[in-house]
Amino acid sequence: MDNINIGLLGCGVVGTGILRVLADKRDTLRKERGLSIDVRGIVVRDLDQPRDNIVDTAKLHTDWIQVCADDDIDVVIEVMGGTDSARDAVLYALRHGKSVVTANKELMAKYGEEIRRVAREYGQFVRFEASVLAGIPVVHTLETYFHISQIVRLRGIMNGTSNYILTRMHQEGLAFADALRAAQALGYAEANPDMDVDGIDAWCKLQILLDCIGVPQDARVGTEIGGIRSISQADIRTAQTQNCKIKHIVSAEWDVASGLVNWHVGPETLTLDDPLYAIDDVQNAICIDGDASGTITLSGPGAGALPTASAVLEDVLKIAQKLQVSLSV
Ligand SMILES: NC(=O)c1ccc[n+]([C@@H]2O[C@H](COP(=O)([O-])OP(=O)(O)OC[C@H]3O[C@@H](n4cnc5c(N)ncnc54)[C@H](OP(=O)(O)O)[C@@H]3O)[C@@H](O)[C@H]2O)c1
Repeated sequence: MDNINIGLLGCGVVGTGILRVLADKRDTLRKERGLSIDVRGIVVRDLDQPRDNIVDTAKLHTDWIQVCADDDIDVVIEVMGGTDSARDAVLYALRHGKSVVTANKELMAKYGEEIRRVAREYGQFVRFEASVLAGIPVVHTLETYFHISQIVRLRGIMNGTSNYILTRMHQEGLAFADALRAAQALGYAEANPDMDVDGIDAWCKLQILLDCIGVPQDARVGTEIGGIRSISQADIRTAQTQNCKIKHIVSAEWDVASGLVNWHVGPETLTLDDPLYAIDDVQNAICIDGDASGTITLSGPGAGALPTASAVLEDVLKIAQKLQVSLSV
């Protein structure tokens, strides 16, 4: 039996989901992979907050340094969010001999290059599948496939909040403000929805995917990042009269001659035959066009405690394999 000890930074929606999925899969992991994944320490901001009963409160700390410096911990999972403490903690963990898994798109979009460099310097691994489209294995697909076929275009619905709002505007004739309020009431939109509805969250995810494919910063050509605030019911009705839907789309197109990648983030009018036309509510999807493979579409839940936790733990397994823990895969 091999053992991986985890330090969990954050125990909110995703952190609690990770504990839940680990508890559900513990026996299967032991039986089928000979692997035990143990959470040694859990870092939160406020020890007095009520926690789900899956959380062992004896393991809670408020000091991430204590967990990241613990010699018994092999892998640190960062699910705190934000970029200040998260960046400090991730870099500290790498420099103290721990590999890192993060679900934090802001962190990877802003500091991904630095984090990957420090990981290389210290011989550690960084994985971030859950930071882009949560449960949809797009990073895995880009890393493990497309060695023969060259990617010529990425195009996707990468923000569940915007997709949900536009779906309600289409299906129920709601104004943007009312659809946003409905999304907030269901927990699909934050109290401050700017990152989602102004397209920044989706842009961050695209940057992470371009990093993942190895597109240099100076080869990325884009103009402004567009959101969905200005979409009116009149726009929606015009699209509907043409059997179309307005969706928030992220795209990147490779220009083979110049080597540049042109990106675009903003609303687009999709026709019925578009593979993204039927992606409604909080679902996400990405179409990857290869020069020989054609269009491959991945779709699924782009958020949520369990899908995100599942992607995080798949990354932990990948690191376990890389650490040459003998897994029977
Ligand atoms: N929610 C999703 O569906 C989803 C999907 C994909 C990716 N993500 C990403 O996953 C990350 C976590 O999201 P979440 O929804 O789980 O957030 P959340 O519910 O707000 O949880 C954040 C957790 O981190 C702790 N925390 C925050 N700052 C801290 C600090 N400075 N020191 C110690 N602990 C700190 C909080 O402590 P307290 O509990 O004491 O407040 C809380 O337990 C984010 O980067 C998010 O973008 C989320």
